[in-house]
Amino acid sequence: MPFISRFFWTAICLALMMGRANAAVKGVFAHYMVGAMPNLSQVLLDVTQAQQTGIDAFALNVQHPDAQWTLDSLALLFAAASQVADFKLFFSMDMSVIPHPSAFVPLFQRYASHPVYYRYAGRPFLSTFRGGATWYGSMRPNTAWQAQMKTLLGLAAGSSGNMKEEPFFVPDFEDWAGKGTNSPYTADFFAQYPVVDGVMAWETAWPAPGSVNNVSSEHDAISLNAARAAGGKVFMMPVSTFQSKHLDNGGNNWYRRGGLTLPFRMAQVLELQPDFVQLLSWNDAGEGHYFGNIWAEGITGEMREMVDGYDHSAWRGLFAVFVAALKKGVVDVREMVPASRSGSGYMDFAGAFWYRPLLKDAGCSVDKFRLGKPDNWETAEDGVYAAVILPPEVKTGSGVSIKVWSGGSVVAKFPGTPGLNIHQVADIRKGRQVVQLVLDTDGSILGEGEGLVDVTDSITGTEGICNFNYQVVEIV
Ligand SMILES: *[C@@H]1O[C@H](CO)[C@@H](O)[C@H](O)[C@H]1NC(C)=O
Ligand SMILES: *[C@@H]1O[C@H](CO)[C@@H](O)[C@H](O)[C@H]1NC(C)=O
Repeated sequence: MPFISRFFWTAICLALMMGRANAAVKGVFAHYMVGAMPNLSQVLLDVTQAQQTGIDAFALNVQHPDAQWTLDSLALLFAAASQVADFKLFFSMDMSVIPHPSAFVPLFQRYASHPVYYRYAGRPFLSTFRGGATWYGSMRPNTAWQAQMKTLLGLAAGSSGNMKEEPFFVPDFEDWAGKGTNSPYTADFFAQYPVVDGVMAWETAWPAPGSVNNVSSEHDAISLNAARAAGGKVFMMPVSTFQSKHLDNGGNNWYRRGGLTLPFRMAQVLELQPDFVQLLSWNDAGEGHYFGNIWAEGITGEMREMVDGYDHSAWRGLFAVFVAALKKGVVDVREMVPASRSGSGYMDFAGAFWYRPLLKDAGCSVDKFRLGKPDNWETAEDGVYAAVILPPEVKTGSGVSIKVWSGGSVVAKFPGTPGLNIHQVADIRKGRQVVQLVLDTDGSILGEGEGLVDVTDSITGTEGICNFNYQVVEIV
């Protein structure tokens, strides 16, 4: 290679590296519940769709590291990810179920060096759900986790020469002693938990249980600043839609506000620019906040009934534009740009709308599962929520509108603006729900979606279940 081109090549590489170093977000993940899976084709579809959404890796929630069905599903997941370019996997140990960090060592040893195991700073990434509060025998949590990291290092050195498989450890330790769930990480936390390389927040994805406030990034900002002040540790910020659990196994019947939580949260993440983002979740059917496929093999009868007919994949279209914006370093939702659509006469846009078909005041005394209304049902609002992303050419008032039909009437019409349009319509009526993107000049319809389940004030209309799940509809 002649000198001059080598020089330019170096310059280009440097520019690319600097561009990468400056990129705001280092990774975007989706929480993935590892359940029973019968075959590779299902897992391959999950992995392919996640990769197409721009997600870098699944955070694999493992609750039973020894169970054969866990091992079988993991084998399928790693096989599937090996077939898809630029898609990785890492473990999120569910310490609300796993009794001790040591239970995880064999699994980590087996997969940490796998070509599709996600690495950051050259180290295999490892996360948790909880695990920051429990004392393990006579050991404080930090001490127990540190002992575990040493074990992992020792095993790696013994089994594969000098290769250091020290995890890059970013747990969700929001339960850390004395602070209580839903409180931010502080300098005190990082002083007490030197074992972490960063932290994940989980609870800030939603307003606090029972709260009627909008979702807030106040705690995330405190946590992010404390992490960076503690010697450049990282912060992983959660994004979710809502929570609704309606299961008959004690204390599992609750609602946590949705409404505009998702688009508000997108705005907060772009503004705060955390190191990592975790979308909650790909497939947590039991908590309602799924946006991927729900495979019947992995869920029980009650859960199946809650999610049957309630496909949430329309949220993926919004996530795809959001993730692309994050990776471009966009800081304002007004600068989100939809991907181009093919075909003449099409305007680029992405959109979805959602609503709870069961109005909050519906009587639930005849609930099929005999659970009645979920805790905090009072904090729910009845309404139609829409998020539509429009291209920069759509100037305010240029004649593209978002039109909301409820129960056969037009209940709202909003002028479209560039970027993410966020709307809430409280005037929801019984019956059919439709949202359209229309040209004002001649009323022609650019895009449209129609809910599959009608709004009702009686649970006989929703198969007898006091279901607070959302219908989520793509506008296409
Ligand atoms: C995989 O399992 C699903 C669900 O049981 C089934 O519908 C599908 O046909 C299976 N695919 C293959 C290739 O076996
Ligand atoms: C939540 O946000 C909406 C839309 O911006 C606003 O109208 C409403 O007052 C907010 N609610 C609270 C409790 O702050």
